[in-house]
Amino acid sequence: MKKNRILSGVQPSGDLHIGNYLGAIKNFVKFQNQYECLFCVVDLHAITVWQNPSVMLHQTRKVISAFIASGIDPNKNTLFAQSDVPHHTQLAWIFSCVARMGWLNRMTQFKDKAGKDKENVSVGLFTYPTLMAADILIYLATHVPVGEDQKQHLELTRDIAQKFNNDFNTSFFPLPEPLILGNGKRVMSLRDGSKKMSKSDPSDYSRIMLTDTIDQISNKIKKAKTDSHPISDNLEDIKNRLEAHNLISIFASLNDKEVSSVLNEYSGKDFSYFKKDLIELIVEKISPIGKEISKLMQDLNYIDNVLLRGKENSTILADSILSKVYEIIGLKKR
Ligand code: TRP
Repeated sequence: MKKNRILSGVQPSGDLHIGNYLGAIKNFVKFQNQYECLFCVVDLHAITVWQNPSVMLHQTRKVISAFIASGIDPNKNTLFAQSDVPHHTQLAWIFSCVARMGWLNRMTQFKDKAGKDKENVSVGLFTYPTLMAADILIYLATHVPVGEDQKQHLELTRDIAQKFNNDFNTSFFPLPEPLILGNGKRVMSLRDGSKKMSKSDPSDYSRIMLTDTIDQISNKIKKAKTDSHPISDNLEDIKNRLEAHNLISIFASLNDKEVSSVLNEYSGKDFSYFKKDLIELIVEKISPIGKEISKLMQDLNYIDNVLLRGKENSTILADSILSKVYEIIGLKKR
């Protein structure tokens, strides 16, 4: 029995790009041998902003396909949809009674997403982090692989677990640790190195999708913004050249190398030279995944069966943990 348990979530709000892959899924593949893993498609988080109902299920299946195509073994790990296990939302309610308004008011992701329109966003967008805490703690997960941008939400999860434990004089909930991911943790837009690569960017040229064709990959990298200087082996210099740094980081991450070793290798070379190798590398590493996603999406019975097994496994676990929570707070679950 593996002692530590991982839970992580990916939103089904659009097709996946290499930012999702390098920032999350690629690392999940590595963790599956060391931890007991649950990977969740967080569809209830997605609807904190309006989603088209006719594509929701399709997107969820696509994320599951991407997990499997990337090398996550559905027989060794639990892959499931958040909305299939109502215990998440039940625990989220309890947590919304534990978390304080002041804590949620400090969440920078909410401030960023709400922008100036704070009065007009959904209540769900505000309470989003209590549902995320519930996703993690409904399985008593000890470790959570997340990108840098989710660190604050994980700290809130620990605060909620701690306050629950204090309020009810128990040590029931673990304080889950973040596993902050390496090199590719923040893949930036190919058009603007100061913005995160995102499905909501209006420009297709800002991102490489896992299912892009070789021509699309090649065109997007050729058009990717750089500067006119050659590559230098000075890491600090490259870090200030945002677009240059982003392309080098993508290369390093796909190749499991350090940025500095890629800089040494390409020092003095132009970006036109480097881009040829980058295109080749993306085609080598990403195209097979894209092809496998398309193949898996032809066999929806198989994908739905993975979802069903995931639902069954996670429900058994969540059910026993929620019963204990109800007992602790004096609501006996019948
Ligand atoms: N908030 C995460 C994101 O946007 C997604 C998420 C939801 C998640 N629940 C989670 C991540 C639980 C880790 C654990 O990326």
